[in-house]
Amino acid sequence: MRFPPVDRPVAPIISPAYSTEAERDRHREAERVMNRLGVTPGMRVADIGAGDGYYTVRLAKRLGHGATIYAEDVSQPYLDRLAARLTHEGVAGVTLVHGTPADPRLPEQSVDLALLAHMYHEIEHPYEFLYRLRPALSPSGRVAVIDNDKPTREHGTPPVLLRCELGAVGYRQIDFLSLAPADGYLAVFARPEVVPRPEAIQPCRR
Ligand SMILES: C[S@@+](CC[C@H](N)C(=O)[O-])C[C@H]1O[C@@H](n2cnc3c(N)ncnc32)[C@H](O)[C@@H]1O
Repeated sequence: MRFPPVDRPVAPIISPAYSTEAERDRHREAERVMNRLGVTPGMRVADIGAGDGYYTVRLAKRLGHGATIYAEDVSQPYLDRLAARLTHEGVAGVTLVHGTPADPRLPEQSVDLALLAHMYHEIEHPYEFLYRLRPALSPSGRVAVIDNDKPTREHGTPPVLLRCELGAVGYRQIDFLSLAPADGYLAVFARPEVVPRPEAIQPCRR
C-alpha cells in the first residue's frame, strides 16, 4: 500500500513528557479533558504516545478496577520507564504496546477512545498511522488530539491543519475546546464510516 508523504515538517521526538505533571494538574488538564470526553468506567481507552504516562495513570484512576487501557509508544526505552512507573505506583489494567511511526499496532475494535496528547506533530507518517488506527476503534470510537496551536516544527499542530489531515483519512471533527489556562487545545474526531484507498488520500498542503 502506498500512502502520501506528509507535506510539512515532522517534529523530532525529544522527551517522554510534555511540561511537568504538577504544572498540568495545576490547570486540571487531564480532569477537564476526561470530563469533556465523558471518560467513565467501562470505556476502553488507548493513550497513544503515552511517554511517561501523564494520561495513562489518570485514566487508570478514573476507569477504576477492570479498566481496559492501552499505553502505546514507539520508544521501547520510554515504555520500559512507564512499566516501572506503573509497577511502582501499583497501577493495574494497562497493556503496553510498542507501535511504529506508521502503525499503533492496537488490536481490532479494542478501544472506544484513542487519546493523542502532545504527540501528533511527531508522527512521521500521519496518513498511514490514522488509516491503521481506524480498525482499532469501535463503531462509535473517537480520536481525541491534544496539542498546541503552533507550527509542527515547534511541537504543535495548527487546528486547521489537524482537521485537514484527519479529514483526508475520513475522520470528522465533532468537538473542539481551548484548554486555557492549560496549554493547547482538545480536538475530537469521529471514526471514519469509510476510509479512502491509500493511493486516493489527498495530502494537505501547509
Ligand atoms: C512529548 S511526549 C508526550 C507524552 C504524553 N502523551 C504526555 O502528554 O505527556 C510525545 C510522545 O509521543 C511518542 N511518539 C512520537 N511519535 C509516535 C508515534 N508515531 N506513535 C506513538 N508514539 C509516538 C514519543 O515517543 C513520546 O513518548
